[in-house]
Amino acid sequence: MKLQNKDHFHGSDLEKIEEVYGIRKEDIISFSDNVNPLGISRHLRESLSAHLDAITSYPDREYKELRKTIAGYIGSRMECIAVGNGSTELISLAVRVLQPKRALLPEPTYSEYEREITLAGGELVRCELRKERGFRPDIDELEEKLTEDFDLLILCNPNNPTSQAILPDQMRRLLEICRKKNVFVMVDETYVEFVPSKGLRPGDGVTSVPLTEEFENLLILRGTSKFFSAPGLRLGYAVTGNADLLAKLGKLQNPWTISSLAEMAGRLMFRDGEYIRRTREAISRERKRVCGILGSWDSVEFFEPAANFVLVHILKEGVTAGSLFDHCIRQGLMIRDCSTFAFLDETWFRFCFRTQEEDDRLLAALEEVLN
Ligand SMILES: Cc1ncc(COP(=O)(O)O)c(C=O)c1O
Repeated sequence: MKLQNKDHFHGSDLEKIEEVYGIRKEDIISFSDNVNPLGISRHLRESLSAHLDAITSYPDREYKELRKTIAGYIGSRMECIAVGNGSTELISLAVRVLQPKRALLPEPTYSEYEREITLAGGELVRCELRKERGFRPDIDELEEKLTEDFDLLILCNPNNPTSQAILPDQMRRLLEICRKKNVFVMVDETYVEFVPSKGLRPGDGVTSVPLTEEFENLLILRGTSKFFSAPGLRLGYAVTGNADLLAKLGKLQNPWTISSLAEMAGRLMFRDGEYIRRTREAISRERKRVCGILGSWDSVEFFEPAANFVLVHILKEGVTAGSLFDHCIRQGLMIRDCSTFAFLDETWFRFCFRTQEEDDRLLAALEEVLN
């Protein structure tokens, strides 16, 4: 079956693929959902299953132990942390608390921000991240734009789908500009732990967590879906030095939105140093290896990725992201056609790094069309 124009598949759309292509979802390898291919650790599996009885009690309404564990993991204080049902719940709550009238969004980026702003009745203004700048934001341009009575700036760092990161110096400049102009800054760090760094903690060198001590106009969002391979767990967290904002988030949030099991899983996974190290090593290795191979093809171009996925530009005449998707999915390999992202077209696709064997299968399938 040929792809219909209206059919666009997101990372979590396995059921839709099953329906359209007749491929069982169990037989699909998703290079589209950006989830850590290692799965959960044995330690987590065994500990969680030994404590299934946790569901017979309500979790601590304030999630103190979990927040303390997260604080240790990211190098912050538990008073600065809120937990939520995935970062998705926290994006939604934050937008409802902040009630932005006018939000500025550098795009292409993750689509959920736009949905939330629009649902909350705010106006969303797009600002193009240009290929000529390697998809990195132009701070001077943002500064100029921000004079037009904006009250919220949303940044995804590293950004989905471009896999480019804003470094702390630039982030500090942006935060200073925004503080002066009374603009709140929401930074989604869902992918930050995948960024290569020599720092003590995953994400060091890119994360804005230390800046929450200095800037009250900053809220950081993080999750466990991607790095900890647990999108079904629905556990995310927010970090801010703004006590007033945290209190408002807490008031709006329903009680117990994180289950006892997710609470327990969180307390285990953030302390699982061995798993964290293995993940970072495995992704770094594949990022380097796969990009080395892609870099030798004349049919594509890309910018060095910071996260666990890469955005690729097709240079070969007559090949589109749609046709590549179609070719790969028939082999059970699912990539992300990026033509639905703002400022991208049918010449862009994205895929995440998985195991060596799986990545080799994808590269071989891509080569059949591209080389
Ligand atoms: C940038 C970004 N933020 C947030 C999410 C959703 O995360 P969660 O599962 O924690 O709600 C995604 C999922 O694709 C994402 O790409």
